[in-house]
This record gives sequence, C-alpha cells and structure tokens, in this order.
Amino acid sequence: MANVLQTQKSTGNPSTVSPGANSASQSRAPVLEALSAYRSVIRFHMPGHKGGRCQDPQAIAVLGEKAYWSDVTGVPGMDDLHEPGGILAEAQKLAAEAWGADETYFLVNGTSSGIHAMILATVGLGDTIIVPRNIHKSILAGLVLSGAKPVFVQPVYDSYLGIAMGVAPESLFKAIREHPEAKAVLLVNPTYYGVATRLDEVADAVHRAGMVLLVDEAHGPHFRFHPKLPAPALDSGADACAQGAHKILGAFTQASLLHVKGDRIDRVRLKAAFQHVTSTSPSYLLLASLDAARRQMVLYGKDLLDYAINLAGILRAGVNEIPGLYSFGKEILGRRGQDDMDPTKVTVTVRELGITGTQAEMYLRFNENIQAEMSDMANVLFIVSPGNTIAEVSKLLEALKRMARDAASGHLKRDFPENGFLEAPPGLPEMVLTPKQAFESPWERVELERAAGRVSAEVVTCYPPGIPLVFPGELITGDVLNHLKAIRELGFRISGPEDRSLRTLRVVRS
Ligand SMILES: Cc1ncc(COP(=O)(O)O)c(C=O)c1O
Repeated sequence: MANVLQTQKSTGNPSTVSPGANSASQSRAPVLEALSAYRSVIRFHMPGHKGGRCQDPQAIAVLGEKAYWSDVTGVPGMDDLHEPGGILAEAQKLAAEAWGADETYFLVNGTSSGIHAMILATVGLGDTIIVPRNIHKSILAGLVLSGAKPVFVQPVYDSYLGIAMGVAPESLFKAIREHPEAKAVLLVNPTYYGVATRLDEVADAVHRAGMVLLVDEAHGPHFRFHPKLPAPALDSGADACAQGAHKILGAFTQASLLHVKGDRIDRVRLKAAFQHVTSTSPSYLLLASLDAARRQMVLYGKDLLDYAINLAGILRAGVNEIPGLYSFGKEILGRRGQDDMDPTKVTVTVRELGITGTQAEMYLRFNENIQAEMSDMANVLFIVSPGNTIAEVSKLLEALKRMARDAASGHLKRDFPENGFLEAPPGLPEMVLTPKQAFESPWERVELERAAGRVSAEVVTCYPPGIPLVFPGELITGDVLNHLKAIRELGFRISGPEDRSLRTLRVVRS
C-alpha cells in the first residue's frame, strides 16, 4: 500500500484508467509545460523578483528557487485567464473533460470565488435563492454582492455529534413548493465532515420547478475518480459546482475549479461573473498546480484514492478500538440528508472523554506534533489523502491512545459541557432586510441584552451546531437573544460577530 505514489513516480503508468482519461492529451499538462519552457527567458516584466534573482535568501531557502522562476503571470505564450485562447484554454478543456463539465474555469481566489461567480451569474437584486442554513461564509458574500434574498432550509442535525449533516430532500421540496419564485437552489454537498445528500432526486425537483441547481462541492473534487465515493454533483444533475482542488487534491492552497454543464445557466453572464471575482494577475503556481492535479487524478486517481480510502479505514477502525473515542462510518447513513459519506474524512468524537474537540486538536498539536484539519466542541476532523502514510496513521493512533489515557486519568481538564449541547431555537428569525441591504445600512453596536427587536447587521454562528443563529437582515427575537446569552455563558465557540465575546452585537441603526 505504501508504494502507490512510488509506482506513479517510477513507471508513470496508470494501472487503472479514471473517467476523463479517454482523451490521449490527458497525459499532458499544458501550463506546467509552458512554465518549464519559460525558465530561460530574460525578464523585464512583473513580478519584481525576476525569477527569484532579487530575493531575500531565507525566502529562497524556505520557498524554493523553482517557486520563484515559476512565478509569472499573463505574458505572451502564457495565455490570459480572463480571455483564454492558448495553454489555459487547453488546460481548462482537459479539466472539463476530466470532471464531465461542458466548461471549466480555473480559480485562483479559492472556491469562494467560484461560489461568488455562480451566485452572481444566476440571481440578482431581489431574486430569491434557496440555500441551507449552514452555508459557508462565501455564500453570505455572494448574497451581499448579488443582492439576492435567501430562503433558508435547515439541514439535518445530529445532536450526539453536534454537527449539521446534509439537507433532507423533503425539506428542500417544501421550500421549492413554497417559493416558486426562486431562481436557484445552492447546496453544500458534501459537508465539511464528508456527509452527502442524494443530489439526483434534488436536481430533478429543482429543474422541474424551472430553477438551477448550484453546488458548493468544495470538499468533493475527488468524487468522480473513485466508485466508493459519493456521486459527484455534475453527474447527479447539478448545473454548476465549485470545487476546492486544494482541499483534497494536490493543488496549491486557493487553487479551485468552477464547472458548468448544460444550458440552464447563461454562459456569457457566468464568464463576466468569473471575471468580476478574479484577479487580473493570476498566479501560475496555482494554475500549474491545477493542471497537474487534473492529470494526476485522471491517470492515477483510482489507485491513489484506493490507497487513501484503505488508509482512512485503518484509522477509523483503530480509533473505534480506543475506549472513549468514536469515529462515525457507514452506520450513520440511510437517514435523509445523510445518504452517503466520504470515507477519507475521519471525524473523531471525543466527548465521552469529557474533553472538547478543540482540546484534542491542541493536545495533538502541542504534545504530539500532529495537526488535524479542524475541531469543534465534540469532534476533531482528520483528512486522509494519498499523501499520508501508514506510519503516520500509526503515530496518530498511538497519540490518540495517550490522549485518551491522559483524559481518563484526569490529566486533561474536562472542558466538555456536562449538559451536552444546547438545542437551537425552533424556526428561523424573520428576514426584514436582504443581506445586501443589511450590509449597506448604517449600523450601531448595542449591548446584547438590548438587542431584542433589532435587525442584525452580522451573522452569529455557534459551534455546535455550526448553523447561524442570526443572519444579517434578520430580526433578533427574544428566543434568539436568550440563546445567544446562553452560549455566551457556556463559552461555546462563536464565529461571525465582530465582538466574539458577544457582549455587544452590531445591529442596523434605527
Ligand atoms: C463548504 C465550503 N465551501 C466553501 C469554502 C471556501 O473555500 P476556499 O477557502 O477555497 O475559498 C470552504 C472552505 O473551507 C468550505 O468548507
């Protein structure tokens, strides 16, 4: 198992052919090839480091010489990401073929920019868009930029794990029936924890209602390359999706993909939207890494993902043998909104040890030199990729055993709240202003105790459940206020408001 990457390196021969590999040119990487050829050019252009010749020596030592000489942008021969007609057009076409899209855009401003572009391309001022309540902040930004009005659908919530799952299709069907005026539905699939909803049923309903289906597939760019992973959004009928090639695949941080399929989305408007949210000096380090990630997935994806899935399986099984720890697997599936899962995401629930996920993350980082992907109140999340090794998994399991022993023997403070989690208040607050109107309105800061009856100017999300309690433009009801006060007392992690202590809240000036 440990030699999957070595096989790829030494032979260059894929043992299995992944989807998208039918075109012979999939073994090429036009952006990488062009960068390699550019190395000898005398540079009288940006950036000022001139291929790294004029650079801080420590920067060269840490970042590497090759990173500098590859750091060019749109010079002749290198194409233009805003109007591609050369190597970038070719590389994007290969990516579209690999992911089964009609068109693919390379993103250098993160998956966030793909989400902004999808929203700007499909809804405008005052238009309605149906979204899950537990959206990523990039969707809030898309709502502010577009002026669209969100209709929220609550995701399924697991009160033992303290995490939001996917949206049950029935909740979505209800929102579609109640809001026939909506132009688009934007789902987050899979969740950060790798849980996925069946999108094919949803896509049918969305299309029958004359709407478009957009998917934030930040955590699913690998799905197309292995049959044991959840169904990819585009293959399930989505009209567009944004994927984080840097989150799971081998691309550099920020490098992401925006795919579009079919004719429901105005392509000219999508291109304009993409240009509005994209730098005019895109980094070729990011673009070349996207090109390479595509080639690697097409040629070797099945083998590499086999390896990662097996490794994650060893980790999950090992965790489940440690007293006090639990890592959910396929046994949680079958409920609506949690139809499938990505096994390479390993969520370790630590609440039975009496500690929080964040304590576990810090323990591993500072006692064991191991960094997890993230943590919340009850869980710590590990992403396993083909870049990990069995030796690393063994070290992690040993570290988790030591942590469990330290917790059991009282060496770790028992920070997990004795009463478990707070249930969020039922229902959703009334939306008085759109997120854009709330963003543009004059605001003031008020003591939390005096916020009831005011319109929030900011989002407040508490972890768990990771679902916003109040959104910009919503009325702060008595129920919401009591909940906010309770989470403040209990010291739950809060994200969104400027004053994280929640002593004050930004509200629209009345
Ligand atoms: C579900 C989801 N969507 C979108 C994003 C935004 O991705 P990026 O950081 O690449 O902009 C993230 C980032 O973590 C995410 O978790």
